[in-house]
Amino acid sequence: MSKTIKKIGVLTSGGDSPGMNAGIRAVVRTCAFHNIECVGIVQGYQGMIRGEFIPMDARSVKGIINKGGTILKTARSKEFRTKEGRQKAYENLQQEGIDALVVIGGDGSFTGAMIFSSEFDMPVMGIPGTIDNDIFGTTHTLGYDTALNTVVEVIDKIRDTASSHDRLFFIEVMGRDVGHIALNVGVAGGAEEILIPEENLGLDRLLESLHRSKNSGKSSSIVVVAEGDKIGKNVFELKDYVDEHMSEYEVRVSVLGHMQRGGSPSCFDRVLASRMGVKAVESLLEGKSNFMVGLLNDVMSLTPLDQAIKGQSKINLELLRVSDIMTT
Ligand code: F6P
Repeated sequence: MSKTIKKIGVLTSGGDSPGMNAGIRAVVRTCAFHNIECVGIVQGYQGMIRGEFIPMDARSVKGIINKGGTILKTARSKEFRTKEGRQKAYENLQQEGIDALVVIGGDGSFTGAMIFSSEFDMPVMGIPGTIDNDIFGTTHTLGYDTALNTVVEVIDKIRDTASSHDRLFFIEVMGRDVGHIALNVGVAGGAEEILIPEENLGLDRLLESLHRSKNSGKSSSIVVVAEGDKIGKNVFELKDYVDEHMSEYEVRVSVLGHMQRGGSPSCFDRVLASRMGVKAVESLLEGKSNFMVGLLNDVMSLTPLDQAIKGQSKINLELLRVSDIMTT
């Protein structure tokens, strides 16, 4: 029989993403609704090891639904990867009386949660929070929608310069292993080409495509490049390569970087975070453990953590075709 849960700990771990605060708020308020105590753990697993806990009641999360980043702070903890680190963390949780955890983060954070849960019989629930959207078992992770909107806004601005100067811009966007951000903002921002890790376009085809668009009468171009793209050259090398092989364009590079991770969460991310927080806490109270809460077909669903970690989050191939047609 599952143990009765009286106190839940919530933490954010890995890269921050917009919507994490809305997720914390939802977890805290759902605990309050069900008369369960809630404790915030500062700086993810690092705070668990150091024993940095903050009691949180419904009022303690006021005014944060619209804030980017995470009020609990976050980290990628090396110490938690060791058995000693996890032992220390467990002793601190026991001392604090925490009997279950909600972990908001990406696949690295879920791997830690899974190991910890099996070593110490601690119920855990994951909420996917990363702008990359690279988690299996949900169509959307927290922060992804906000990041898409942030990047599209920037591409629109860069386009002003591209068209005023008749330039070709390579715009690098985040996405370490997957091309979700690149593919979507590429279509939404009217990019000429989109380079993603899932499909290696190759340098010849890239040049061909740029020549074709130039010959079709376009005077400027935007190529969106995912950070984890596999074409074999980084954006600056791509610029040099195109400079060398295509004299028609003046080429520039813009690496968007961490500005993509900040900012106030979109309406979609706030609603998603609220739904995920409720589902995570109520699932723990129903005696479930080792799952990730996700959004599938607009329904809150649970995916076993090991599947969420091992499974592949696939890009939408239809979008690649749509992009090809749109650049005609
Ligand atoms: O996983 C989210 C992400 O923003 C990736 O897109 C990026 O590669 C990475 O985090 C950057 O991490 P850091 O903030 O540690 O440099």
